[in-house]
Amino acid sequence: MRVAIAFGTRPEVIKIAPVYKEFKDKGLNPLMIATAQHREMMDTMLEVFGIKPDIDMNIMTHNQSLNAVASRILKNMDEILSQREIDILLVQGDTTSAMASALAAFHMGIRIAHIEAGLRSGNPRDPFPEEMNRMLIDRLADFTFAPTRRAKENLLKEGICEKKIFITGNTVVDAMKIIRERFNLSTIEYENYILVTMHRRENWGEKMRSVLAALKYFSKEHNLKIVFPVHKNPKVREVVYEALGNCENAILIEPVDYIKFLSLLENCVFVVTDSGGVQEEAPSFGKFVVVVRETTERPELIENRWGILAGTSKEKVYQSLEKALKFSPKKLKNPFGDGRASQRIVDIILNEGIKD
Ligand code: UD1
Ligand code: UDP
Repeated sequence: MRVAIAFGTRPEVIKIAPVYKEFKDKGLNPLMIATAQHREMMDTMLEVFGIKPDIDMNIMTHNQSLNAVASRILKNMDEILSQREIDILLVQGDTTSAMASALAAFHMGIRIAHIEAGLRSGNPRDPFPEEMNRMLIDRLADFTFAPTRRAKENLLKEGICEKKIFITGNTVVDAMKIIRERFNLSTIEYENYILVTMHRRENWGEKMRSVLAALKYFSKEHNLKIVFPVHKNPKVREVVYEALGNCENAILIEPVDYIKFLSLLENCVFVVTDSGGVQEEAPSFGKFVVVVRETTERPELIENRWGILAGTSKEKVYQSLEKALKFSPKKLKNPFGDGRASQRIVDIILNEGIKD
């Protein structure tokens, strides 16, 4: 059976890396197709996990539009897939790379497996365009790998056939396990800091400004530092540097590799983020998460009391930061997975993939 894996952004590499490793350990060589929707941020992660793409579309352009990204991927995928005999294409998550790659495979009659299926915020425009991307991929997919029971229920509610749904856990827990086994994460050059990341499209502009204003005020009041690896997106950088560039408590750094990011997580006081992946990682480090978004497709974090959905208003974010500071970590297991998701995914593909 010929398996291909398509990916293009930082979080996709992190979450497909353990699946790739699992295939390799079982003697299979999946065809690794990089869209390079992210150039530098994807490459950094590929290096950490020692993955060399077989094909690199190199599509990223400065300040790219969603339609430009999608159309370049569709065109490239058409050529790539028509030149090879692929039985199953794996995609992960909710990016334009995942959605357009899945659509291209569907057009060519190639079966699709979706890793991290079934997450839903309930608002088709938030996260935008990711909620819709994920729903589309789930409809196209022959295998939907739901990380949690709730994700499976979401798929069933939308009429996805139960035979296509497998609860596996989230592969991000496997990725963290790989890094923790190989590297010491205990030392970092900063102390007494809040770890911050923000990049979501629906937060661009005013919402991001009000979150950062609350953070600036809070950090000064409590004498805490802010360590913020700033996403490469120019729309994000503009606002972050304007809001925190002259704040003496804020340490603005370039995106860091996964080893360094997990070290930052291990050593921080708590986390403020609108990132999906970071929400799933923080519980493994006993860190509380202030989710600066209006909705979440990862309610398991809030229900298990590892985080608070703070919204983006200055007042609500400030109150949530106060709560985060009072949080005392408990030894709870990560609600998103147990570190064996990749093994389950590969076993299912190898056992079920040969059937029609
Ligand atoms: C994308 C995903 C989002 C995911 C995020 C992870 C979509 C629609 N969005 O958003 O779901 O959470 O990645 O980080 O798929 N840039 C660089 N170098 C890089 C990466 C980005 O310069 O390595 C700049 C470029 O100017 C690029 C811009 O950032 O045009 C935006 O990148 P893009 O992938 O379109 O959107 P993200 O906001 O990163
Ligand atoms: N991350 C990283 N370096 C950074 C910021 C984030 O390695 O400087 C990792 C983080 O651990 C998580 C992933 O990138 O696994 C999240 O990526 P992002 O927030 O860009 O995307 P999302 O998860 O929101 O789609």
